Amino acid sequence: MRLFVALPLPEPLRHGLLAAVEPLRGRRPAARWERAEKLHLTLLFLGEVASDRLDGLVAELGRAVGPVARFEARLGGGGSFPAPARARVLWMGVDGGEAFDELRRRVAQSGGPFVERPDPKPFHPHLTLARCDPPWEAESVRRFVDILEPLRGERVPVDHLALVESELGRGGSRYRDVARFALAGAPA
Ligand code: 2AM
Repeated sequence: MRLFVALPLPEPLRHGLLAAVEPLRGRRPAARWERAEKLHLTLLFLGEVASDRLDGLVAELGRAVGPVARFEARLGGGGSFPAPARARVLWMGVDGGEAFDELRRRVAQSGGPFVERPDPKPFHPHLTLARCDPPWEAESVRRFVDILEPLRGERVPVDHLALVESELGRGGSRYRDVARFALAGAPA
């Protein structure tokens, strides 16, 4: 199973993000915009995990996440990977502060032994909104960043995480929650 640990986002936030970038859709340069139901923040990408290890993984993640008190992160600003001159991924950043760093540390530590191939890149909390092929140049990326600026500071509730299975298919990947983890004090 191809798995990752993600923060699911409330529906109004997902729609707000896509509504903001709506003026860029259907225009040049082209991009593949993410669908609202798939928007999420990845905390740890595990890759392929044998299904007989799933129960162990769920137990470890539950133990690590459960004691963390729910909190609120904030939307940051827009950005791109890699550099704005050759942008392949367009995203909205998330500022989570110390609470988020602690949550991420716990997820990375408990899920670490299950990770197929550790990612050498530093962790950068982001919500992928679009993928660009061919890459976008700096001026277009600047327009994307500017259009998201009014959403800076919007609240992002962090009260549940999900273990998500990504199934690769012809129409792109399909996501399915395999397990959910409530943070302490989260509404049921
Ligand atoms: P991305 O949004 O930056 O592409 C499912 O693929 C999720 O896991 C995506 O949010 C993706 O991040 C993230 N991810 C991190 N590392 C990945 C990898 N090596 N392959 C695929 N997805 C990865």
